[in-house]
Amino acid sequence: MSMNWSELEKVATSWVYEAGQKIKKTLAGPIDIETKSNPDDLVTEVDRSIEEFFYEKIQTTYPEHYFLGEEGIASEEPSLEGTVWIIDPIDGTMNFIHQKQNFAISVAVYHNKVGMIGIIYDVMRDELFHAVRGDGAYLNNVELPPVKERPLHESVIGLNARWLVEEKNQYRNPLKALVRDVRSIRSYGSAALEMAYVASDRLDGYLSVQLSPWDYAAGIVILNEVGCVASNFQGDPLSLTEPGTLFASKPILHKEIISVYIGEEY
Ligand code: IPD
Ligand code: CA
Ligand code: CA
Ligand code: CA
Repeated sequence: MSMNWSELEKVATSWVYEAGQKIKKTLAGPIDIETKSNPDDLVTEVDRSIEEFFYEKIQTTYPEHYFLGEEGIASEEPSLEGTVWIIDPIDGTMNFIHQKQNFAISVAVYHNKVGMIGIIYDVMRDELFHAVRGDGAYLNNVELPPVKERPLHESVIGLNARWLVEEKNQYRNPLKALVRDVRSIRSYGSAALEMAYVASDRLDGYLSVQLSPWDYAAGIVILNEVGCVASNFQGDPLSLTEPGTLFASKPILHKEIISVYIGEEY
């Protein structure tokens, strides 16, 4: 039996709203914070409990589906053959902790490696971006128009300024050149939201030197529906299993920035 992706998107969206309510409730009390790979790589009990919430819902409702989440809650290995949910329970954990805003839930469903559903929910602003493959992208159920290009010198680009000063970042110089040439840069601290902002024309592009599949899986589906492109810095398709560079933008700008700035390794 083939899956009705629009129906599945509605179910997924109802879970996302439910998860958003749960996250909001936790903001009233103290939150237990831990570090992961380094002192600035933060995780909270809320990240884990929200991932668990999705995992249990999916296991109960769609036991044949696979699950890939940032916090590694699933007990079995995900497979990219068949249907897999790729979830970041809180994207922008640092914002969640420090600002209590500017974070998102990111939920994607892929079928045989093709992105079918993408949902990015800014919990505190109550902005829900969603797309089903072939069916357009929406912000709070209002369809997003196909994006319009702007020349590079009028473009506003999402980029974490840390990448410009990190000695070991091989893209430091090309990124500096890009920052000089565009109109301005912005850093929102949530890759998922920054991709949604490209899709909704709040940004013209977004670049990151290091992201993981759960950061961008939903964003790719939403961006594709408005004619945007998401790839690595070489212009190749993004991996659903390995971390790497990410560059999402409007298509003409995408070509220009890859060929003039970041496409070659420096
Ligand atoms: C992080 C955010 C951030 C990006 C980091 C990600 P997390 O995700 O998307 O904007 O710069 O690379 O790891 O850990 O808050 O889910
Ligand atoms: Ca994290
Ligand atoms: Ca993330
Ligand atoms: Ca996360």
